Amino acid sequence: MTDTPHRAILLLHGPNLNLLGQRQPQIYGTTTLDEINERVITRAQASGVQVIALQSNHEGQLIDWIQQYGPEIDGILINAGAYTHTSIALRDAISGLNKPVIEVHLSNIHAREPFRHHSMIAPVCVGQVAGFGWRSYLLALDGLLGHLGLLES
Ligand code: DQA
Repeated sequence: MTDTPHRAILLLHGPNLNLLGQRQPQIYGTTTLDEINERVITRAQASGVQVIALQSNHEGQLIDWIQQYGPEIDGILINAGAYTHTSIALRDAISGLNKPVIEVHLSNIHAREPFRHHSMIAPVCVGQVAGFGWRSYLLALDGLLGHLGLLES
């Protein structure tokens, strides 16, 4: 046992991501949401960080979780799905939190339809990882842990 303070992050998934594995696998891959969560949890554990993984199809629910868990956690990884491109409310929730948030996408949103090129939340996030399939989440986790000073170098 060490006496390092308890660390936790929120892993938030937005609409339709519950269907990962079956949904447009040519774009999003065949890995399921549970498998992604497992991989993030395992990797975070190696740095002593707990992961609270949640998915909702509802914008207000995602905002409620940011408000509810925000004060207790160290940062957030979020794939807001289509709300990325539309939600001022989600952006306001992130700016109001004052904790580091990393935006994640499986697909490269900049190489897809023009309406996906703009992210409402990008300006209030530390950074964005897009285009690496399920590995986007692990890259984003590395980014967040590094930002929090929890990686070796
Ligand atoms: C997505 C990209 C969004 O444009 C889309 O609405 C999604 C998934 C991604 O992970 O690539 O639902 O966030």
